[in-house]
Amino acid sequence: MTPDLARPLRLESLAYGGDYNPDQWSEDVWDDDIRLMQEAGVNLVSLPIFSWPQLEPEPGVFDWGWLDRILAKLWDAGIRIDLATATATPPSWLLRGHPEMMPMDADGCRLEFGSRQTYCPSSPVWRENVARMTRAMAERYGDHPGVVLWHISNEYGDHTSRCWCPESARHFRRWLQGRYGDLDGLNEAWGVNVWGQRYTSWDHIETPRRAPGPINPTKLLDFERFSSDALLELFRIEVDILHEVTPGIPVTTNFMSMFRDLDYWDFAAAEDIVTDDAYPDPADPIAHVGAALNYGLMRGLKEGRPWLLLESSASATSWRDVNVPKPPGKMRVDSLQAVAHGSDAVMFFQWRQAKYGQEKFHSSMLGHRGEASRTYQETKALGLELRRLEEVRGTRVRSRVALVVDWDSWWGSSATESLPSQRLNWAGQARAWHRAMHLIGHPVDAVRATGPFDAYDVVLVPNLYIADAAQAAALTAFAEAGGHVVVGPFSGVVDDTEKVHDGGAPGPLRALLGIEVDEQWPHVDDARERITFAGVEYANPTWAEWIETDAATEVRGRYTTGELAGRPAVTRRGAGAGTAWYVSAILEDDGLVAVFRDVLAGAGLPVREVLHVDFESVTRSSSDTDYTFVLNHGRDPLAVVVPEGARDLVTGATTRTTMTLDRYGVAVLATPRAAEPPFLTLSPQPTDRPIQKAG
Ligand code: GLA
Repeated sequence: MTPDLARPLRLESLAYGGDYNPDQWSEDVWDDDIRLMQEAGVNLVSLPIFSWPQLEPEPGVFDWGWLDRILAKLWDAGIRIDLATATATPPSWLLRGHPEMMPMDADGCRLEFGSRQTYCPSSPVWRENVARMTRAMAERYGDHPGVVLWHISNEYGDHTSRCWCPESARHFRRWLQGRYGDLDGLNEAWGVNVWGQRYTSWDHIETPRRAPGPINPTKLLDFERFSSDALLELFRIEVDILHEVTPGIPVTTNFMSMFRDLDYWDFAAAEDIVTDDAYPDPADPIAHVGAALNYGLMRGLKEGRPWLLLESSASATSWRDVNVPKPPGKMRVDSLQAVAHGSDAVMFFQWRQAKYGQEKFHSSMLGHRGEASRTYQETKALGLELRRLEEVRGTRVRSRVALVVDWDSWWGSSATESLPSQRLNWAGQARAWHRAMHLIGHPVDAVRATGPFDAYDVVLVPNLYIADAAQAAALTAFAEAGGHVVVGPFSGVVDDTEKVHDGGAPGPLRALLGIEVDEQWPHVDDARERITFAGVEYANPTWAEWIETDAATEVRGRYTTGELAGRPAVTRRGAGAGTAWYVSAILEDDGLVAVFRDVLAGAGLPVREVLHVDFESVTRSSSDTDYTFVLNHGRDPLAVVVPEGARDLVTGATTRTTMTLDRYGVAVLATPRAAEPPFLTLSPQPTDRPIQKAG
């Protein structure tokens, strides 16, 4: 049985609430907090995330009183608890007693107490204390009826995702011994004859501290893998204790969307429920597009199961250069977008806006003006509105398109400076491919490079720099069974030790794609470079490849400028009942839209003719009902063609054939479940927000 099914969330409705820090306030305000929470429909709060020093003011001396009292009040008020293990940051006494547990940067500088996450993930002292605190929390509160979820640590890696200290070096060596067995294995894997890097003793291996020049790429890649694993080990220490002491309560740790430093496939496999913290920037007019990919990852991490939006902002954040508030209505559409994409929760950082400290300018549900604050009024309205959407809880998003997210390739193509171009941007490439799919109307789920792909018609592989035979076999089987695979540039280049595949790229993907890459051909950000696809020219400023095609491979697009003019740029090959595409250029939105329209036409999937970056529709389905969320992320009204006779959960009204979504408008249309999820389009009309906006 999968862990998340073994430990369901014991909550009778969509979760609504936020981080709660009652220990930053006098107890006098607690009753007010709870009254206002109830009035706003809050049913779940997360605490005490950063409160270890308040719970254990001296080693071994606990002060549970305040936490006992607030948990009792919350329980009496019907508000459930996402109980943190309070291990997100160490108390000062622990650090001062063990200065060796302070993290160290790549220059050998220890990071001081005074912020949060001041710990080396490998520190045995930290690990022992984390285990001790977790057990203490579990034993004290595991039977509390209000505790429905364990919140482990907080945003692992947010501040300290890598540590270069001597303890991390020892741990890195042990990790390498586990991976390679002996030094010969390591020397072979790292290709140490280049620049005289041979190791003759394990003790000679350091963390990749700053060196005179470029560091061995495979060492850097292994350090990325090791660092993700070091935090994963720390996470598992807590997971195991909580599962042992409180076997019925699900555990989670809050993710940070598409976060480079941790392999969330591994983290998600270790927890019961996926949760995410999402902060789309109100100053970025297309932040909602990026958010859609983040949410596609969250549901993809557990094969489509609902996840929880555990943090978001009611209005402005306080950690950007400029922290722009959300205009009226924006918080609502941002929140409902997460629900559209499979979240069974809307939660915020935080309940009551801080009066002091690092985050006093961060918006909260209850702003500095209290009940009168705009954020309270808007979050209260949303809390009540969510009750009308109750039917969608537990339903699953239906996507026809998947996008491969592969941390190894992300790390491998970004950890080293020894690459054909520093303009390669793994996440930027994934986001661009997703954005084009968003524009033509398809939500996208994240998948591993080995699948499973059976729920999809199209699998996008924006970049698979590190590729192996198992991934190639999975993608090939998908295509041969009728699927359509689209592979992006600089894929299939190296194996998992970063050795170039025999014969060069695309290595194990060669037979599937029917091409060979002779040379990578990056541009110096040259705005003149172009390709032609289906008779239209598209910009190709950063990257090209000299490719040779097999006889059976069809050239769909060609380079039209520069040294490669006339050579193949985009290819397609029949593969069994499906197709395999290779896009060797790094295209902008319009070029990708053109290619993907062609791919989708071949797959028999609909595409939008009228493009509008602010328009989104996503369907969550139960066994008998499709719930199609229709969202307007912009300020101008949108006229949308909708199914006749659908019930709008938001207004209770029945739809006619078109509906107008006003500024930041949202509708949730219930229709009987159909074989294919409804595909909504804008009514054909001139639009002033075409795709250029997404450039
Ligand atoms: C993160 C953290 C929170 C808070 C918010 C502010 O999500 O988990 O503790 O700092 O950022 O946006």
